[in-house]
Amino acid sequence: MEKVRLIDLPKIEDPRGNLSFVEEDNHIPFKIERSYWIFDVPGGQIRGGHAFKEQQELIIALSGSFDVEIDDGKTKKTFSLNRSYYGLYVPASLWRQMQNFSTNSLAMVLSSTKFCEEDYIRDYQKFLKFKEI
Ligand code: TYD
Repeated sequence: MEKVRLIDLPKIEDPRGNLSFVEEDNHIPFKIERSYWIFDVPGGQIRGGHAFKEQQELIIALSGSFDVEIDDGKTKKTFSLNRSYYGLYVPASLWRQMQNFSTNSLAMVLSSTKFCEEDYIRDYQKFLKFKEI
């Protein structure tokens, strides 16, 4: 849980419009194998609700806002993302869910692994067992 952190990404301010970027092994401690994004989330819906055995990720609210709840099996912490130049770094083996999506929000996830269903832990009791809690 102590490794979860909000990363303040570089922001190049410009009267023509601002620009931010992220580099693997520099701003984030992993190589990017995949990126995916979540959009058109109907009001009140919850995404996530699982853990990954290996996958590390950076979650960015490219547009709009949402909350990410992180749970290590003992404590829970909620991070509100509402700026495109902040990324939430989530190490492996934490339960996480995303909620309170604003209208037209866009969540981008940079992942350290390719998609692999076997990496998911979708059952909370199995997650606790995995964490040996
Ligand atoms: P899932 O990760 O369970 O969604 P969330 O955690 O955001 O609620 O993924 C939903 C579905 O999409 C699931 O059937 C797997 C599929 N999927 C892929 O095929 N590739 C991917 O990179 C991702 C993230 C999901």
